[in-house]
Amino acid sequence: AAIYLKDYKVPPFLIDKTELTFELDESTTVVTSKLHMRRNPTSTENTAPLVLDGGEDVKLIAVAMDDYVLPEGEYQLVDNQLVITATADNFILTCETLIEPQNNTKLEGLYRSSSMFCTQCEAEGFRHITYYLDRPDVMSVFTTTIIADNEQYPVMLSNGNEIERTQTEEGKTAVVWHDPFPKPAYLFALVAGNLEVKNDTFVTQSQREVKLQIFTEAHNIDKVDYAMEALKRSMRWDEEVYGREYDLDIFMIVAVDDFNMGAMENKGLNIFNSSCLLASPETTTDDSYLRVEAIVAHEYFHNWSGNRVTCRDWFQLSLKEGFTVFRDQTFSADMHSATVKRVEDVSFLKTAQFAEDAGPMAHPVRPASFIEISNFYTLTVYEKGAEIVRMIHTLLGAENFRKGSDLYFERHDGQAVTCDDFVAAMEAASGVDLTQFKRWYSQAGTPQVRVIGEYDESQQSYTLRLHQDTPATPGQPTKLPSHIPVRVGLLDQAGNPLSASLDGQSANEHLLELSQAEQVFEFTQVSSKPVPSLLRGFSAPVKLSYEYSSTDLLLLLSADQDGFNRWSAGQQLAVNELSQLIEQAVAGQTLSLESQLINGFNSLLVDDSLDPAMVALILNLPSQAYLSELASEIHPNAIKQARQYLKAQIANALESEFAQTYQAHRLDGEYRPDAQDIAHRSLKNLALSYWLETDSAEAKLAVVEQFESANNMTDQFAALSIAVHADHPQATQMLDAFYQQWQDEPLVVNKWLMLSAGREQENAIDNMKSLMEHEAFDLKNPNKVRSLLGGFGQNISAFHHVDGSGYRFLADQILVLDKRNPQIASRLCTPLTRWKKMTPSLSTLMKAELERIMADQLSKDVYEVISKSLA
Ligand code: ARG
Ligand code: ZN
Repeated sequence: AAIYLKDYKVPPFLIDKTELTFELDESTTVVTSKLHMRRNPTSTENTAPLVLDGGEDVKLIAVAMDDYVLPEGEYQLVDNQLVITATADNFILTCETLIEPQNNTKLEGLYRSSSMFCTQCEAEGFRHITYYLDRPDVMSVFTTTIIADNEQYPVMLSNGNEIERTQTEEGKTAVVWHDPFPKPAYLFALVAGNLEVKNDTFVTQSQREVKLQIFTEAHNIDKVDYAMEALKRSMRWDEEVYGREYDLDIFMIVAVDDFNMGAMENKGLNIFNSSCLLASPETTTDDSYLRVEAIVAHEYFHNWSGNRVTCRDWFQLSLKEGFTVFRDQTFSADMHSATVKRVEDVSFLKTAQFAEDAGPMAHPVRPASFIEISNFYTLTVYEKGAEIVRMIHTLLGAENFRKGSDLYFERHDGQAVTCDDFVAAMEAASGVDLTQFKRWYSQAGTPQVRVIGEYDESQQSYTLRLHQDTPATPGQPTKLPSHIPVRVGLLDQAGNPLSASLDGQSANEHLLELSQAEQVFEFTQVSSKPVPSLLRGFSAPVKLSYEYSSTDLLLLLSADQDGFNRWSAGQQLAVNELSQLIEQAVAGQTLSLESQLINGFNSLLVDDSLDPAMVALILNLPSQAYLSELASEIHPNAIKQARQYLKAQIANALESEFAQTYQAHRLDGEYRPDAQDIAHRSLKNLALSYWLETDSAEAKLAVVEQFESANNMTDQFAALSIAVHADHPQATQMLDAFYQQWQDEPLVVNKWLMLSAGREQENAIDNMKSLMEHEAFDLKNPNKVRSLLGGFGQNISAFHHVDGSGYRFLADQILVLDKRNPQIASRLCTPLTRWKKMTPSLSTLMKAELERIMADQLSKDVYEVISKSLA
């Protein structure tokens, strides 16, 4: 059954204080809760019964109102809810419940991961711990007592400050934690285990000393230094850029191995998937270093954008997630290269979020309904949500945006609010009217903007005609025009910036505000025929089209002042060429094309003044996934063939340049994950991947040499994956050696699993089956499942095999996993949900697997995704 935003009602009851006691045990954990409740004065339902959320895995032992133990007839258990009809206006409800964390395979609520107890309560996990008003607009002050065995659980943590610690007679310790900030239950956390700690301190801008602690199992404690430094950078940055200071005296992070998502911002006690926290040069790639830093920042930033100000209901999820992603993106941009960061984020958005927005699960950034909220932790809510906040920043300007965020935090501190409240604060602080802009929250689908430019030499005027429309999405057949900020610059034919006047303002760059279905912008004082640089910095999440000639694109690629649009022009050129090749491949023709990219790439390779990271990004051909998103009908093998052909052609034409680039960007010395060194490694490894395409014996040797001698995982793994993807004669040996070397490092083993599953070879399904039996694999661990099945999705020839065996294999795994962990199973469905866009022979096969899944007894999570895909 679906839940609708329009049905929102304030809660009939509030919980001022929550007192919890956990008696942790290997077999049964006893949870006692004392909820200090009262009727909500703002609710009109003043005779409504008390309805508390629970779960099938929570066993109720006793319930009491004040001191009166309710006999069986005075409460009911219906659909996992505890219903009490007769209540006073003020009372303490005491519940005793039993749970079995060791049997919790869903990893929601309280569960075991290796030797420890840990929690994940967002979105609706708390109800699997005890009966509660498990909704974000019920905020309460929590006091938590944890009782457990001294030896096994020397570390016992919860939110806030430790206020008491006592020994019990049976060799147990009881620890009491108190969090003074009212919070919804989704921010509750508990950890108990035999953990090591790394300590540090941070002095806030108002000179308060905050204790910082990162906890891991003993064998990982040597891998937290980078996260600790990233945390301190985040704390400083939030003070400087948003004026936000940390509020408790202690901030803790714990790494756990089994975790459904990346990390969780529980108040004062963040819990991380160990893959998003641990880092060491030998085991962690540059990408992962940057990811650790970004996620540490993201979770830390939630302390204000999420915790101090939280969401009224889960439809408002993007209120905290979109804003916090925008904040972490800006932070990473400030720490490294802003242009590189922007290209990476946009490339991801255009590949994965655009695909989501065009598929059966398309939904607005603020969804109108859902069956299972876990399915809405999506790229749309997170990444498109961040683009909305970025557009507000663009429309208001940095200064007004900061006034708006200050006002938002000031107005709503301690409250659970909506996306409208966020926008209202931005409007009030800036005077900008965002009424139409708010359609971005309610309309799904990616707007398409078509642009036509016309130069009038005699008038020295240039006209840009913009037309927008948004395709229909499920449940939204028609759309209204969006308010779209389009940053535009003009270049003359030599690539110099061309000044132009718009509405009396003369400048090299203008911000167009497209708000009508069709709108004309007229520039004057344009001294020569321009090439327009449109949507600079990707100023709005739209699909923009303009009929550029290859010459125009080459000009933008080599000369645009906007680094982002240089990349974009390169991508467009490559997309144009790849599209022709894909057509040839679909028609069964021999591929042939004289690539224009060769000259453009050549000049980038020999220009020392450029950021090597940008060169690497530009030279990286559009991915299989991005080309699939662009296609109106997806032919996976044709796309693969086209990419291979183009890459080989460029590689052969520029063989010596790639060889030279490879040598020129080798670094010696200690590994450092800073922007400069990362840039050199990325260009060097990109050059190596091209060079190997030439079939040069020297290149083959260089790959093996780098694999064997690298002092860091970035270089070692790059060599390995280049070898595997290019089917290097030693690929098998290298994969084996890699596993031998790293078998005791689970996070590295996961990379091996992914690469092994993605390897194109005969009998790929048999290979998958043996990987699933391999000692390195574990169905209980979400990271391993994602690595293996995610890797398999990259295996074009196997996953999209014409006999349907790839789809069948994935469907089988989804059915198995759905019984254990519905959240993970649901996410694995994504590739199959794209069936309508596949070429008919494959489409039919995918659909058959969706129908087979649909016929099974499913979780809400998988049911929602599969039923919507088939609708
Ligand atoms: N709020 C977390 C974040 O930082 C994500 C947690 C989502 N967890 C879940 N089970 N859906 O983005
Ligand atoms: Zn988040």
